[in-house]
Amino acid sequence: MTMTTCSAPGKIYFFGEHAVVYGEQATACAVDIRTQVTVRPDVEHSINSSLGITGLDMTKHPYVTRCIREMEPFISDGVRIDISSELPVGSGLGSSAAVTIATLFALSLQFDTGHTLDEIAVMGHDIERIVQGVASPTDTYVSTMGGVITIPARKGLALPACPIVIGYTGSFSSTRELVGNVGILKEKFPAIVEPVISTIGKLSMYGETAIERQDYHELGRLMDINHGLLDTLGVGSSELSKLVWASRHAGAWGAKTTGAGGGGCMVAITDQPDEVAEAIEIAGGQAMITRATPYGVKIE
Ligand code: MEV
Repeated sequence: MTMTTCSAPGKIYFFGEHAVVYGEQATACAVDIRTQVTVRPDVEHSINSSLGITGLDMTKHPYVTRCIREMEPFISDGVRIDISSELPVGSGLGSSAAVTIATLFALSLQFDTGHTLDEIAVMGHDIERIVQGVASPTDTYVSTMGGVITIPARKGLALPACPIVIGYTGSFSSTRELVGNVGILKEKFPAIVEPVISTIGKLSMYGETAIERQDYHELGRLMDINHGLLDTLGVGSSELSKLVWASRHAGAWGAKTTGAGGGGCMVAITDQPDEVAEAIEIAGGQAMITRATPYGVKIE
């Protein structure tokens, strides 16, 4: 093989970001917004993305650098990696997991390493943990397998048929810092914050039934509640809530922050995707209309 191209999807959370860090159930869904990675054997290592061309570089390309290091025993000389992504970096849509998983899978095929998808998902999670300090397995697992999945059980749910609209605020905050702040709040007010976190886990369980029944009104309602609880945990922002409310006014069944919060993205489910996207844009966000995808990492 002269080269291998693979792609992996980003994801949204229907429920459970932050609570999943404390072992509560989360429900995440792969969306059809993908990162593509091409791997070619070369005389030395190089990584080419919108951030520039580097060699192994833990500052500019920490995830891909780690992927090459993991697979180095199988690589004879060097490898050239070309990345193109539809996912805004650091937006809470799992862009780092998508690039990590697409790179690991492309390297495993190109150099015939024999890794299974489960092993790729675990390796990807380890890389995210090393680079970010904190990371649940959600992003890397969903990006590998696709579909709608509950964490920690890794149970696959029915694929929602409804359109999904994502609103990007254009700003982002550090996941590590936001997760840390929730921890501080929990230490300070355990009797208040612990029930909030366990309620988020319960929302995910109620949501499972709504997803299986394809009851998108109920799913949306539960997502609205989860948004309020994320605000309670202090990971909201006025921009996020503005986009959430604009989506609801435009007819969304439900809308919430997705990912670590503090900026980044919100997600809405709706049967009026154009109207919701337009409302998000008018409210100052960048809108993406997408759908759940059953396809995790795959060869292009
Ligand atoms: C970040 O996308 C989601 C968090 O729950 C952290 C994690 O699960 O790794 C905040």
